[in-house]
Amino acid sequence: MNLLQLDASPRLGRSNSRRLGNYFVERWLAKRPDDRVVHRDLRTFTPPHVTESWIAAAFTPAAERDDAMHRELAVSDTLVDELEAADVLVMALPMYNFGLPSALKAWVDNIVRIGRTFDFDPDAADPYTPLLRDKQAYVIVATGDAGYQPGGPMYGLNHVEPHLRTLFQFIGIDQTTFFYVGNDEFGGQRLETELATATDRITQTLSSTPSRACA
Ligand SMILES: Cc1cc2nc3c(=O)[nH]c(=O)nc-3n(C[C@H](O)[C@H](O)[C@H](O)COP(=O)(O)O)c2cc1C
Repeated sequence: MNLLQLDASPRLGRSNSRRLGNYFVERWLAKRPDDRVVHRDLRTFTPPHVTESWIAAAFTPAAERDDAMHRELAVSDTLVDELEAADVLVMALPMYNFGLPSALKAWVDNIVRIGRTFDFDPDAADPYTPLLRDKQAYVIVATGDAGYQPGGPMYGLNHVEPHLRTLFQFIGIDQTTFFYVGNDEFGGQRLETELATATDRITQTLSSTPSRACA
């Protein structure tokens, strides 16, 4: 199977999301050593923002695009290819201002592509068709405070999970598991406890989930 490991933290050694994303992939490979991992690191490459010419190119049917349009979409095509090739997406991100960090939002805007990850037919009863199939997503969210998980005291402020679940469903990724690691701002024992809890949850998920991917 193919894993796409996506890191969105601009921090390296101090990043809690990266640490847990790496742990997830290590554990995965311990069970399935022959699986292949592609690492897309938004710390070293931030996808470009959408521009007017990008929109024009994306909404021109592929067969009618000129060279400039193909160049305009080259990064987006690469990022969509990576996602399409993946059976499993492992996304690790920091919560910034209660939502996605902007580098990850730029990635999202590049991979939600008409004709590639969703289709639109204005005459259909349901005009939107997701085009991705058979993918699982595991999302690790690092936060400064804690309690952002569903049912937690901060969930009402969590604009990461509802946003990502909506996006994933829109393009056809319908099996998604979230892990949270909070308390970065508090540090010390409170952070250690969060790291240990998230690590345990990942270990348990990978050992007990009877998923197609882990079978
Ligand atoms: C620009 C910025 C915005 C942040 N916004 C929030 C926030 O809205 N809620 C929160 O709990 N923590 C917030 N934090 C803290 C980070 O989510 C926390 O440090 C997290 O551990 C970062 O992920 P990383 O450890 O993978 O780098 C923010 C940090 C920065 C730098």
